[in-house]
Amino acid sequence: MERPNWAPGDIDLERPSVARVYDYWLGGAHNFAADRAVAQKTLETMPELRGVVLNHRAFLRRAVRYLLSHGVRQFLDLGSGIPTVGNVHEIAQAADPEARVVYVDIDPVAVAHSRSLLGGNGHVSVLHADIRDWEGVLASDEVDKQLDFDEPVAVLMIALLHFVPDEEDPWGVVGGYRDRLSSGSFLAISHAGYEADEETEASRQARKIYDRDVTRMRFRDPTEISRFFGGFALVEPGVVRVPAWRPESPSDVEESGKRFPGFGAIGRKA
Ligand SMILES: C[S@@+](CC[C@H](N)C(=O)[O-])C[C@H]1O[C@@H](n2cnc3c(N)ncnc32)[C@H](O)[C@@H]1O
Repeated sequence: MERPNWAPGDIDLERPSVARVYDYWLGGAHNFAADRAVAQKTLETMPELRGVVLNHRAFLRRAVRYLLSHGVRQFLDLGSGIPTVGNVHEIAQAADPEARVVYVDIDPVAVAHSRSLLGGNGHVSVLHADIRDWEGVLASDEVDKQLDFDEPVAVLMIALLHFVPDEEDPWGVVGGYRDRLSSGSFLAISHAGYEADEETEASRQARKIYDRDVTRMRFRDPTEISRFFGGFALVEPGVVRVPAWRPESPSDVEESGKRFPGFGAIGRKA
């Protein structure tokens, strides 16, 4: 298989990756045949999946705008993915050219593409790291260069934590980031999940394919997701279906009435 010039030399093109399958669902072009095959298979089983990922992306945009309107100018975007329409720095720097962003991802394609897009933007850094190593991320040169933790920082974990199984203590990982933040800082999370006994057969089948061919996902219910916020005060309306979090467009509102398979929320440190 021919390797395109944006693909780092050390990646396995035959093995689907979380970031590239997601890129395909979002309509992006940074994916390979192996990624497209599994993405297609899951879409055939659960056609509404494309709408699901677009809704997480729309939540990200609403969250960043909310955070900007509450004075935040620093963003730590964990599991930031392959850049696509509406990246955090584009939204933030449209509001304030001085806004600072650190993107962190474990996927080499996501990191390489982010770096190539951002060359010359002195207020944005890209870190290739595993977000579970919160001590390493927080001690990195990239974070040190861009973020001042004496001022409010927003930590974003959008469509990310369902990739961290319970055995790896995702609550401890998120707590490591929360503890580093000063008063007035925020945490924004969107996460795959259902209320108890709500999952459809199509979703179960799509999940089976994804777990087998890409990686295991851990769906969580709103109570489990609430625990990620520790003592942070949840911003209204709390932990709700992703499209129901401060909807802006008629389609958000329409979606919010359905059994959307994921929840979103923002919390603020007192
Ligand atoms: C579903 S995508 C979401 C991307 C982006 N947050 C968005 O909303 O468009 C999840 C991303 O998290 C990354 N990821 C998963 N586990 C990770 C880990 N342990 N450390 C860093 N990144 C991780 C994947 O590589 C992928 O790019």
